[in-house]
Amino acid sequence: MPKSPLPEMLKEALAARSNAYAPYSKFQVGACVKTASGKFYVGCNCENAAYPIGLCAEASAIAAMVAAGEREIAEILVIGGPASGEPWIELVTPCGACRQRIQEFGHEGTRIHAAGIAENGKAAVQRSFTLGELLPFAFGL
Ligand code: THU
Repeated sequence: MPKSPLPEMLKEALAARSNAYAPYSKFQVGACVKTASGKFYVGCNCENAAYPIGLCAEASAIAAMVAAGEREIAEILVIGGPASGEPWIELVTPCGACRQRIQEFGHEGTRIHAAGIAENGKAAVQRSFTLGELLPFAFGL
């Protein structure tokens, strides 16, 4: 069995999340993309006083991947929650626009891991999906 990349992805996403710039929503998100070649790229949300132009963690991780010359997302992990550290039991899954961004560099079977920080303070993957589950009948050219 090949070693699971999830512990490393979780660590990387958490580190990126600690740099999230979310003074408006106070909801910090980190993401880690693993590419087909086995490399990791991270992102965090980056908000703006002009609210609609804020960037999601997934979008910034995907842009970092593309900037490094990579094109194929094998899997992506997302972890989000209030900046205050209060427990957050809702699943944090990519927004609709980010699902479409993942589609651009992924496929139906691309895995999406929703992680959270449990009440004991430990970060863990709560649920895993495929892109086909989160974005059925996706549009692509
Ligand atoms: N956000 C992400 O970065 N990724 C998600 O998957 C969900 C939402 C950000 C956008 C905004 O900065 C904040 O979380 C609250 O919506």
